[in-house]
Amino acid sequence: MGYDQTIDDAMTSVVTPLKDILIALGGKVLTGMEAERLVETDGRITKLVLRSAGSSPGEAHQVPANAVGDDWQPTRSSSGELYFVKRNDRGDYAALSSRCTHMGCPVALDPATGGFACPCHGAKYDRHGLPTAGPAILPLPAVAAELRGDAVHLAAAPLQSATEYAADYFVLACDVPGLKNILAHSEISDQALVSSVARLGVADPYIVWRIWLDRELRTQYVPFYTVSGYRYVDSIAIYSQLQPAYEDWARRRRGAVVELHAYAVEAHNVLPEAEIKRLMRAELDELIPELQGAGVIHDIYMMQQNFPRWAPGDHAGRPGVTTPFDNLFLAGDFVRLEVPANLMEAATMTGRMAANRVLAAEHLRENPIPAVALVGPLTTGA
Ligand code: FES
Repeated sequence: MGYDQTIDDAMTSVVTPLKDILIALGGKVLTGMEAERLVETDGRITKLVLRSAGSSPGEAHQVPANAVGDDWQPTRSSSGELYFVKRNDRGDYAALSSRCTHMGCPVALDPATGGFACPCHGAKYDRHGLPTAGPAILPLPAVAAELRGDAVHLAAAPLQSATEYAADYFVLACDVPGLKNILAHSEISDQALVSSVARLGVADPYIVWRIWLDRELRTQYVPFYTVSGYRYVDSIAIYSQLQPAYEDWARRRRGAVVELHAYAVEAHNVLPEAEIKRLMRAELDELIPELQGAGVIHDIYMMQQNFPRWAPGDHAGRPGVTTPFDNLFLAGDFVRLEVPANLMEAATMTGRMAANRVLAAEHLRENPIPAVALVGPLTTGA
């Protein structure tokens, strides 16, 4: 495979410049907000209701009280939502949503501070969930935690007031859990759309582990590899030979930064974080022997479960870019496509297709979308 890659990270090279263009064109960009539900009126979608990140209604979740200690510990609801819970000095319980208030990525515990770190754009929070660094300006949302019997019950924090946005067209460009959540809270009359979204699933969880090591790499590697045959590691990105900020750090500190990915981790391989790190480190040592024995200065580890599932039979019921509503469109890597594109390419392509549907509805020229040919050059047509 060949990849084109941005020189800097995606936030610097893609997201921020796009945001600036949208704002220069008169657009409005809201971050730290979650889309909660759509409002349908007379067969059209008329409004989107937004709330502060993490304050949308969550599902009830409980943790055995004897499993909750004095330090934050992660706990997942049955739909995969991640919370942190702990016992306070007073003997009552506290819980936080893991949703970063910048753009909603799940934060991870930051062992260096006892607080939280977001792997997406570097937001950090202290042990009370208050932002200390990076782009987040709001604290992690508190979640009500109450002891009932021998279990701690978690529920979404009291709802904050909602903001409603009216618009002519809506494009929902979310991951599968996000889309399911919005539709589950919306009163939508078209049951075919509701059930095709409800049937969407997520794959087994994946792991991203970025490690700062105290040893320089003397060999110049290709900066991104996919590998096979390992229990966890499916790909390696050598950031200290990939992006200028990491190259610079590695030069100054005589170190190296690598990122290991594990995709679709089967249930029996979902072990405690420390054990997974130990096993992945052993695989890294085998893959890049010159890093054997190098010390870890810093690391960011996350396990998430929001990749779309591609199980047999899933394709037939998948929703497409257009929906039964003529002003509601979907974009994302899970959306049904008739051309061979997946992952980020599919997300981009469906986003552009949705934008074209809006242009067409406004009687404006659509933008061409390049795609590979659906038949090979040697096809005879027979
Ligand atoms: S989502 Fe951007 S820093 Fe967390």
